[in-house]
Amino acid sequence: MARRTVVSMPGDGIGKIVLPEAIRVLDAVGFEADYVPADIGWEFWITEGNPLPDRTVDLLARHGLGLFGAITSKPKNEAGAELAPHLRDRGLVYYSPIVGLRQRFNLDISIRPCRSLPGNPLNFIRRNAAGGWEEPIVDAVIFRQNTEGLYGGVEWTDPPPDVRAAFETHPKFKRFADTPGPDLAISSRIFTRRACARITRAAFEYAARHGYPSVTVCEKPNVLRETSGMMEEEARKASADFPDIKLWSTNIDAQMMWLTKNPEDYSVIVAGNMFGDIVSDAFAGLVGGLGFACSANIGDEVAVFEPTHGSAPKYADLSPSIVNPIAMILTAAMLLDHVGELDRADAVRDATAAVVSEGEVRAYDMLRLPGGPDVLSKGAATTTQITDAIIRKLV
Ligand code: NAI
Ligand code: MG
Repeated sequence: MARRTVVSMPGDGIGKIVLPEAIRVLDAVGFEADYVPADIGWEFWITEGNPLPDRTVDLLARHGLGLFGAITSKPKNEAGAELAPHLRDRGLVYYSPIVGLRQRFNLDISIRPCRSLPGNPLNFIRRNAAGGWEEPIVDAVIFRQNTEGLYGGVEWTDPPPDVRAAFETHPKFKRFADTPGPDLAISSRIFTRRACARITRAAFEYAARHGYPSVTVCEKPNVLRETSGMMEEEARKASADFPDIKLWSTNIDAQMMWLTKNPEDYSVIVAGNMFGDIVSDAFAGLVGGLGFACSANIGDEVAVFEPTHGSAPKYADLSPSIVNPIAMILTAAMLLDHVGELDRADAVRDATAAVVSEGEVRAYDMLRLPGGPDVLSKGAATTTQITDAIIRKLV
C-alpha cells in the first residue's frame, strides 16, 4: 500500500487536542502516512480575515484527503469585532470554513455512523413490557446530502423586487403578498436531481458493501412534495439496482418519534441536508453523543473526515485535557475505510470497543460528570490516557 498524504487541519479549541490523538492511533495501527499541517479556523479569521486560507484549499486539492478537528464560529457582529485592526471596516464577512470546504470541493455525501458500543454507559435504554429495561443495539448509518437544501445559503430578508416578483407568480404566495419586505424572510430549499441521485445511490452502495438489509429515506414528501418527492423518486431508481435491500420511507417527524421506540430497526438512512443533520444528531444521542459521533464528507476528488463535535472552548485550555478523543478516533477509522484500509479500520474500532466495554478508562462524559478539572479526582481518565488504552488494545 502506497504511503498516503493526509492534510491535517486541527482548527480551534479541542480540535487541536483530539486530532493529534487520532494520528497517534493511525500510527500505532501501522497506517503509513505523512501528515501535512494546514491552517484553518478562527485564528486565521482574526489575522488574515479568512478562516479558510487558499493555501489550505490548495493542499486539499493536491492530496485529496483531509482530517479535520473542529472550528470555532461566532455570530457576524462578534466575528467582525475580533478582526485584527487593519482588517476591520473592509466589509469582510465570516463564514464557516467547514461549510466552505463542503461547497468548494462539492463534498456532497456526508456519512455519519451511529453504532452503540456494548458497555457504554451512555447507550440508550428503554423500559420493556415486564417493567425491566433493555438496551437495543443501534447500528444506523446516516447519509446526509451535504451541500444543498435549506443549508444551501440562498436566502433573503427583504428579498429584492425581482425575487419577490418571482414568488408572486406562485398561487400560494398570495397569503404573504401584503407582508412588507423587511418583515419577510425567505430561506430556499433547493434540491437537484443529480445530488439526490448521488446521495441515494451512495446509501445503497454502502448498504450493499456492509451487508445492511434496508435503506430508509427520511424526508417529508407529503408536505414538501417537490424536494422530498425528488429524493424519494431518486431513491426508488437507485433501489432498482439493489433488489436484496429493502427501501423504506419515513417522515422526519415520525422518525423522531420512532427513534426511541425501535431504533434497532433502522440501518442505512438517507436524507437531505437539514433532515440529515437532525436525524444524525438524534441517533448520535442514542449511542453516546458528541464524544462518540464521527463523520465523513465525501466528494469525487476530496474527502474530509471530522468528528461531529465543535471546538468546546470551555475545555480547550484544561491541562491535562479531559475531552473524549473517541469521536475523533472513530473518525480516523472512517478515513481508513475510505482509502481501503479496511482491516486497520476494523482494528481501530475493535480496540475502541474493547476499551469501552472493559470500562476501566472512561472520559468524564461517560461517567456523566459535569466537565471541569476535578473530574480526574472523580475517576475520569485524561484524553491521553484514553488514547493510550486504545493503542494498547491494538498490539
Ligand atoms: P461543542 O460540540 O463544541 O461542545 C458542546 C459540549 O459538548 C461541550 O461543552 C462538551 O460538554 C461536549 N463535548 C463536545 N465535544 C466533546 C468531546 N470530545 N468529549 C467530551 N465532551 C464533548 O458545541 P458548542 O459548545 O455548541 O460550540 C462551540 C464552538 O464550536 C462554537 O464556536 C461552534 O460554532 C463550534 N462548532 C464547530 C463545529 C465544527 O467544527 N464542525 C460543530 C459544532 C460547533
Ligand atoms: Mg449538527
